[in-house]
Amino acid sequence: MRSFVVTLTLAIYAAVAGAQQSSVADAYFANQVPISKANLLANIGPDGSRAQGAKAGVVIASPSTSDPDYLYTWIRDASLVYKSLVERLIRGETDLRTKIDQYVDSQAYLQTVSNPSGTISSGGLGEPKFNINLTAFTGSWGRPQRDGPALRATALTQYSNWLIKNGNQSYVSQKVWPVIKLDLDYTAQYWNYTGFDLWEEVSSSSFFTTAVQHRALVEGAALATNLGETASATSYSTQAPNVLCFQQSYWNPSAGYVTSNTGGGRSGKDVNSAIASAHNFDPSAGCDATTFQPCSDKALASLKVYIDSFRSIYPINNGKAANQAVATGRYAEDVYYGGQPWYLATAAVAEQLYDAIIVWKAEKAITVTATSLDFFRPFSSSVVAGTYASDSTTYTTLLNGVQAFADGFIEVIAQYTPADGSLAEQYRRDTGVPTSATHLTWSYASILTAFAARNGEYQESWGAKGLSATASCDSNTGPTVSVTFNVMAETVLGENIFLTGSVEPLKNWSPDNALALNPSNYPTWSVTVSVPANTQFSYKYIRKNNGQVTWESDPDRSYTSGASGTGSTSDVWR
Ligand code: NOJ
Ligand code: NOJ
Repeated sequence: MRSFVVTLTLAIYAAVAGAQQSSVADAYFANQVPISKANLLANIGPDGSRAQGAKAGVVIASPSTSDPDYLYTWIRDASLVYKSLVERLIRGETDLRTKIDQYVDSQAYLQTVSNPSGTISSGGLGEPKFNINLTAFTGSWGRPQRDGPALRATALTQYSNWLIKNGNQSYVSQKVWPVIKLDLDYTAQYWNYTGFDLWEEVSSSSFFTTAVQHRALVEGAALATNLGETASATSYSTQAPNVLCFQQSYWNPSAGYVTSNTGGGRSGKDVNSAIASAHNFDPSAGCDATTFQPCSDKALASLKVYIDSFRSIYPINNGKAANQAVATGRYAEDVYYGGQPWYLATAAVAEQLYDAIIVWKAEKAITVTATSLDFFRPFSSSVVAGTYASDSTTYTTLLNGVQAFADGFIEVIAQYTPADGSLAEQYRRDTGVPTSATHLTWSYASILTAFAARNGEYQESWGAKGLSATASCDSNTGPTVSVTFNVMAETVLGENIFLTGSVEPLKNWSPDNALALNPSNYPTWSVTVSVPANTQFSYKYIRKNNGQVTWESDPDRSYTSGASGTGSTSDVWR
């Protein structure tokens, strides 16, 4: 599968091996970075060759229209893709500016499009995906997803900071800031509500979502201050410490890793945490574990258990030693398309490790703690907890071991990249053959950002340095309103009426945890619930009789809460 160019170059480099970096990874990146950039741009409207029909600045997830149909624009994918382009712009590729300005305009419009998650002021910013002509996607989906606004704010904040440095503050104030402000107002209001995770499957709280929300609020508060937007600055900097406090709760001290989701019933070992660490990389924070920096003991411990969870389940990983890289996917329990390795997951492992190396080199030391000891052992079986300065042999052994390990993940990707450099979403666990969506834009972005990290590149600080988490968290859930749900329903003896729906107070569509209604005004059943203000959500009543659950007929009911006060419904069972 390896491309001809890579194989050829490999043979040449192998002869002069001995350098610290892998020649296979060198050759892969040399060939693949320009291909990735070109294929990424081909997936952006209006003129990308694979993005026909997409409006200007709109990123398609993939040109695949069936099995799976990915010809939509996801807020998450587009933000991460544009973040990679903004990073290249800052590094000197100023010709990307037109494309980035088109993104700003497209997102300013998209924020106003009413959709099944709500309107611009009632939670609609949590909608995960749209049609590529920027109309709402109205089919059923895992919604809301609350990482999107924060990721978009981060991409646009990086862009704004660059524009301000280059004398273009008025464009920021007029065009970019209004988009960021809506996203961060949403984030400040809803960070403590549950939603679907980045894989669109589990409705709960999710480490990635919380981590990216925290970063966006911190850097957004600084930008707001810069622009004289003091009310916004106060709001974001009030919520940011609460988010950081909550972020700590994902760490599972007895098992020694980050549990990615608070719900979903999985092990919690998930590339979720590696992507979050790399996204939130801020070298000024060193190996700080509070913000789960890539070289922090907690982030490395999590990375190790995540990687190891794939060693025995993917046949293509057979025979690899503990210090060798393997193919990795989203999480071990994955069954989507048969639960295969993902290119962007394997690339995220390499990126986190390259980021760690940047800091170790800058600090001229590696610190091993009891928490990260298992991560380091495969590179030096005798290593013990301690700090190793760059003139020690332990430092050299560990650094070279981690560098080879990181490059190994790129070698895995190289081995399973077709000769034309195209990257799908997944590659098969038994054969390594690409599968699921073709030309996944996010796969290409993941190669670009891993490559930059390997080159020692990083972005300006987002303000992670010196942050500490408070011991007890203020959960500030934002404003709520009290709604009385009334439903007229005749029941037989032993039968009771319950309520569930799409928000946490309605128990996230769980029939088991559904709220019991009170029949004191029979045949009207009632319950009063505190729900988030300014929010559109769906709900249904259910009947339970001796463990037998009967749902109301479709469609779901919908309710939009006001800004304050109380509300009520007068429903009739259907
Ligand atoms: C589509 C989502 O995009 C994907 O992440 C998920 O695994 C499948 N639906 C199955 O729920
Ligand atoms: C499925 C992935 O799980 C999700 O994260 C992504 O947003 C969509 N596919 C689109 O690429």
